[in-house]
Amino acid sequence: MKDIVEKLYSTGDLSDSELKELILTGDEEAADMLRTYADEVRRKYYGTKVFLRGLIEISSYCKNDCIYCGIRRSNREADRYRLEREDILSCCENGYGLGFRTFVMQGGEDAYFTDEVLVPIVSEIREKYPDCAITLSLGERSHESYKKLKDAGADRYLLRHEAASQELYSKLHPAQMSLENRKNCLFDLKSLGYQVGAGFMVGAPFQTADDIIADLRFLQELRPQMIGIGPFIPHHNTPFADEKGGTLGLTLRLLGILRLMFPEVLLPATTALGTIAPNGRELGLKTGCNVVMPNLSPVRVRKKYDLYDNKICTGEEAAECRGCLQRRIEASGYTVASERGDCISR
Ligand code: 5AD
Ligand code: FES
Repeated sequence: MKDIVEKLYSTGDLSDSELKELILTGDEEAADMLRTYADEVRRKYYGTKVFLRGLIEISSYCKNDCIYCGIRRSNREADRYRLEREDILSCCENGYGLGFRTFVMQGGEDAYFTDEVLVPIVSEIREKYPDCAITLSLGERSHESYKKLKDAGADRYLLRHEAASQELYSKLHPAQMSLENRKNCLFDLKSLGYQVGAGFMVGAPFQTADDIIADLRFLQELRPQMIGIGPFIPHHNTPFADEKGGTLGLTLRLLGILRLMFPEVLLPATTALGTIAPNGRELGLKTGCNVVMPNLSPVRVRKKYDLYDNKICTGEEAAECRGCLQRRIEASGYTVASERGDCISR
């Protein structure tokens, strides 16, 4: 296993069979080596910097029905909300004061947020905060819509591909959704000049090592600026309620592999990772991650953006994720960067 990690470190790639061995191994020594090398590479390209993204969860309405997701249309128990323009702008104002220079507007695929509604909001944020990056994460939209939003001032778009294997994709999504459309959206976004984030869940039901290899190969083809991965966590009101969640070990192994395959990529230590282990995000940072996304949503809606069970940062105590994360970052040996944090290979 050691020689496989050495090869990944020195060449940035592996054959499918080598990747499979590394994905499936429980070898502690390999995990230690991956962490050491991933940290070395992240420090070479980004130093000790960790970029902050202020996450504003603008709507929990969603017309899609992804089997794994707590805000899927079929979940009648979900408590739905959407933020008004004023709410979103006051999140930005609050976030700017806290030092954020990237705002991420994320939400379900909510038909309310047409271009007519969104474009003026994006333009206003662009005007008020010329030194900030605007990231959108609002699912699949048309090429035309992506273009209007880009012209209004959006810089980046996060759209996890979720599963690059056709077989797995169709087990995780209803028949109306298509992997082809998902991929087309990602290529559209790239061609429009967005900095793009793709990614997938680790340990999703039915996911095999071969599926994960397909994800890595797709990422090599797409070459996104950001890659978001986190463990799958079951949600009690979905058909996957009784499925097993993704593990800390596999998620960390994949973060290490991603850092070595994509040395310049932006890699978040996700909330889901922090949810399955109290020090999950810290371990992520030590295994190549260089981004964290503290929650900036109004505290009154946080519990309602309920993608999976036991999500952290949703209680009153979390009114101040910024400070909490800064302490965690510094205690792990890294520094908070108060800048936009663009990808160095952009
Ligand atoms: N567990 C972990 N991650 C999830 N997501 C959605 N549902 C879950 C879940 N049950 C992830 C998806 C989506 C992102 C916003 O959250 O990958 O792209
Ligand atoms: Fe949100 Fe710690 S990061 S409470």
